[in-house]
Amino acid sequence: MTPGDTVEVPDAAAMRAFGQSFADRLRRGDVVLLHGDLGAGKTTLAQGIAEGLGVRDPVQSPTFSIIAEHDGVDSGGGSIRLFHLDLYRLIDPLELEGLGYEQYLDPGDAISIIEWPERAGDWLPDRFWLLKITHAPSDGRRINLSRHGGAATGR
Ligand SMILES: Nc1ncnc2c1ncn2[C@@H]1O[C@H](COP(=O)(O)OP(=O)(O)O)[C@@H](O)[C@H]1O
Ligand SMILES: [Mg+2]
Repeated sequence: MTPGDTVEVPDAAAMRAFGQSFADRLRRGDVVLLHGDLGAGKTTLAQGIAEGLGVRDPVQSPTFSIIAEHDGVDSGGGSIRLFHLDLYRLIDPLELEGLGYEQYLDPGDAISIIEWPERAGDWLPDRFWLLKITHAPSDGRRINLSRHGGAATGR
């Protein structure tokens, strides 16, 4: 799948599998924004991405903590940190200042996944992957993939 494509994802297992294969394309410093309604499958997709990044601990909806950090394994066997954010409960984007949000928008040698990025208002990373999940006419979902703001530096 190349940016701009839309893929049909029939069930939750396929959602995780999609996330796993998408993880291969991620580089250190990448930010992934997951758009979609409540129940769209964002956390399921995040779980697949985390699996693809070699994260072993459970990735849940970090709704109450907003931010969860995990450690995965990169292709060379080194460690890679994953930030998983869920901004659903954010009332005002200003709250993000107290959370050190900037570090998640420019994660250095880590990778960030952000659910409900629209809750951050205009506060977006310079470059990001956008995965938009919508309901398909069946019980499944559709994912539209796009990339914004240029290529990863791959630090
Ligand atoms: N592609 C899919 N097709 C059908 N159901 C899915 C799909 N992906 C996830 N689900 C299911 O949708 C429900 C909500 O998923 P979840 O990942 O918690 O959504 P969100 O984080 O967007 O609120 C779960 O029961 C999950 O198993
Ligand atoms: Mg969720």
